[in-house]
Amino acid sequence: MFVKTKIIVNDKELTIYSEHPGNLLEIIAQAGVAIDAPCGGLGRCGKCRVNVQGELPPDNVEMTILSSAEISTGTRLACRKRHIPKNLTITITSREEEPVTTTHTIVPVDISVAIDLGTTSIVIAFVNLSDGTIMAMHSILNPQRIYGADVVSRIKAGLDKLILEKMTLLTLSAITGEINKMLLEIGLDADSIKATYIAGNTTMEHIISGTDVSSLAKAPYKPAFNSIKHVPHLKANLGTTKGDLVLFPLIGGFVGGDTVASILACNMDISDEIIALIDIGTNAEIAVGNKSGIKVSSAPAGPAFEGGQIKQGMRAQSGAIEDMRIINDELTLYVKDDTEPKGICGSGLIRIVAELVRTGVISKSGELLDAESIQNNLSLRIIKKDGEQAFVLYKSYDNEICLYQSDIRALQLAKASIATGLKLLTWHSGLKPSRLYIAGTFGNYLNPEDLIFIGVIPSYLGGNTYFIGDSVISGLKRFITAEPAVDMDMLLSNIKHIELADDPSFNKEFLSMLELTKKA
Ligand code: FES
Repeated sequence: MFVKTKIIVNDKELTIYSEHPGNLLEIIAQAGVAIDAPCGGLGRCGKCRVNVQGELPPDNVEMTILSSAEISTGTRLACRKRHIPKNLTITITSREEEPVTTTHTIVPVDISVAIDLGTTSIVIAFVNLSDGTIMAMHSILNPQRIYGADVVSRIKAGLDKLILEKMTLLTLSAITGEINKMLLEIGLDADSIKATYIAGNTTMEHIISGTDVSSLAKAPYKPAFNSIKHVPHLKANLGTTKGDLVLFPLIGGFVGGDTVASILACNMDISDEIIALIDIGTNAEIAVGNKSGIKVSSAPAGPAFEGGQIKQGMRAQSGAIEDMRIINDELTLYVKDDTEPKGICGSGLIRIVAELVRTGVISKSGELLDAESIQNNLSLRIIKKDGEQAFVLYKSYDNEICLYQSDIRALQLAKASIATGLKLLTWHSGLKPSRLYIAGTFGNYLNPEDLIFIGVIPSYLGGNTYFIGDSVISGLKRFITAEPAVDMDMLLSNIKHIELADDPSFNKEFLSMLELTKKA
């Protein structure tokens, strides 16, 4: 039986027919509409709110999460709705912002497609094979997000073969759609594409190639492939893409093809000097080395740096507090798009904590002090809320944004994980790095002084820290253009994956790195 569902997004109407519809979150994703679903459809986060017109009673979970006003006006959680009646109309009320898109138009030429396959977003770039320039670059949200915000939820979901297949197809069709759009915009046809290269984290590369993810669900988290993988069957699904289709090699644990691409982007594989690289995300990938040998590992930083696990955290979208300054007890907030604050993004969190440590509101051990212990006007901002100590950043008659004690603890755990990883890999390498690259778009918003001040990176790297935003696309581009040339076999034989948790000094180092203070 086919079920007809009408979906209205920003006054635009879409109708979809599905035979085995799954839950409403999946139906909406089939229509190409992305809804935020950080808990992966477990009915915990309450973010997948939609408005329904039709008979669809709330279940117990919805009765707990939604207010009675919301329930009576038709708000429901999309992930909780499995039995969809015919002819249901849904209005999306919680649509995420699509990332910014940039395009440059030029005359037709041969191109290769470079794809940075991220857990949250996917960046697609066209590399002009005649001059090595990037002709067009688009960023889209990864449609698999309906199965959870992080790789752990995607692995859990992917253990079910049917869901793994759904995730593969969702991702492939989103990429195909975007490639078609880009081709149209710059006036090329599909024959211009000579090859497509994809680099992503271990989980993303497994999912896009439909590879069984069960080896990623338990230690030692061994990936199914660790050399360049040619995937002819993907060509059929990426309908418009001609030529070879290549997945970048996976290294081990959670160190994937995106790290290999980032290593290429900072020329670590051909450098004489020792270089360190950190890709800060939910899992922070770290590499230290040079052309003679590279040690890599991944540190489970958690989502704090991306605004996750923070009570009022959010991604760096409109309304995110990105920066805060305190001068003479006066606090100034800098909010993305200069709007009313809605929450705190990852870079804002680091800035706020660094500023509150500097002004003595947070101790070096990470404790948000009592109001009585603070001898200035900032004490008026310390309150008890939801059973814990909080610092009020913003207050209006109907909105209050706070930094909570638990947010500081989440940041401490994340930063200790990265700092410990970098220190141990440096030991394993035997030599201190003389420069540090911070990869990933998130890195662009960080201030190296704050990272040193709260001890995320050691002070000896001050002045020698560089941000490389689109490191994965840059690394893929280097591979495609051979500028400078890449010897992938040599690079792979020089890379050694280190399991940090097996290092006997890990726990001791981790505990000392929890302090919010400079580290040598
Ligand atoms: S409640 Fe989290 S996705 Fe539905």
